[in-house]
Amino acid sequence: MPGAATAVIEVPLLDLKAQYATIRHEIEPVLRDVVESQYFIMGPRVSAFEEEVARYNRSRFAVGCANGSDAILLALQALGIGPGDQVICPTYTFFATAGSVHRLGAKPVFVDVDPATYNMCPESLERAFACPNFRKVKAIMPVHLFGQSVDLDRVLAIAKAKGVPVVEDAAQALGTEDRDGIRVGNRGAIGTFSFFPSKNLGGFGDGGLMTTNDADLAARMGRLRNHGMEPKYYHAEVGMNSRLDALQAAVLSVKLRHLDAWTAGRQKNAAFYDAFFTEAGGAASDVPVDAGGLPLRFPKPAARGARHIYNQYVVRVPAAHRDAVRKELSARKIGTEIYYPLPLHMQECFKHLGYEPGVLPHAERAALETIAIPIYPDLTEAQRQHVAESLVEIVKAI
Ligand SMILES: Cc1ncc(COP(=O)(O)O)c(C=O)c1O
Repeated sequence: MPGAATAVIEVPLLDLKAQYATIRHEIEPVLRDVVESQYFIMGPRVSAFEEEVARYNRSRFAVGCANGSDAILLALQALGIGPGDQVICPTYTFFATAGSVHRLGAKPVFVDVDPATYNMCPESLERAFACPNFRKVKAIMPVHLFGQSVDLDRVLAIAKAKGVPVVEDAAQALGTEDRDGIRVGNRGAIGTFSFFPSKNLGGFGDGGLMTTNDADLAARMGRLRNHGMEPKYYHAEVGMNSRLDALQAAVLSVKLRHLDAWTAGRQKNAAFYDAFFTEAGGAASDVPVDAGGLPLRFPKPAARGARHIYNQYVVRVPAAHRDAVRKELSARKIGTEIYYPLPLHMQECFKHLGYEPGVLPHAERAALETIAIPIYPDLTEAQRQHVAESLVEIVKAI
């Protein structure tokens, strides 16, 4: 009809209201139950949720806590990491990975990432161990970034050779499986998870959890999250107050039942984008963005046998155009984010560690080229079509 306004398709980076609308009828009664019970801290809801996650993740034990940052801190503390120790982690991750190391008085040792997966690079890990400055390494902490498993075979082999434990930062990766189909958070000594609302399993506030297959570590983390207390008012060691509350556990229990369906939705959206971008002349992220063809790179699909849960879907465009591409997407009402604009070794607060720009080049380049686009399971076909078409059109005009 002449003069009729075309409907604007808005696509936020994440739409939690859309998700809530589908589960409101399940959530409201359990919230009411918790309120009626007036049992807010720990208790049966928390224990039930811990058992459900342990079963879901195929782990022997799951221990809830206040958030994913504390989960890392409690895991490291349970392994005896403290002042003067060094912990190796990737430089391209959310701040909490290294912040939690620092909070224990230990020092993060940063290593580079694989340019195709953005996960800890085993060669860079080996180089760190060969460096005379890093003689006090007491743990390795790979991150299953964006919902894709680290190359655990290689990381665990190096850890075994060096005699140090591995803590898997799986904050973005509940349900992710490695090449052998093993859920992350099982092969290292401890796995740590976050239920920050934007995560694939997100609470109505903060929440976190540790998984382990070691009964002693599970018991120790269970004490440490509650001031190191056992029995009541007796403290053999100092812990902290980092408990998961019953309202969060109740919400998360309901949401966990939907997680596999939501993951399937994320994977379907990712497959759509992969095919669309390939058709348009783009390529997977194992091809550098300046190697020819359309300068658009999409996440390298998971290795055979592995399960990528696409907590994020991150594309790459040339650094010189990244911010303009983002701005243009925003003008078309498409939400994006940069995960992460500054690698941790270049952060002001870690200046004293003495890393020079250029030393971890893959992470530094990724920080300039990456953009996360909407991938959440409730995306409509029209929304994802709008995202894919807009991105290709914008990149073609570069
Ligand atoms: C890789 C990684 N580690 C740790 C965390 C910390 O989790 P939380 O925000 O629950 O403290 C996050 C959350 O954003 C994360 O993405």
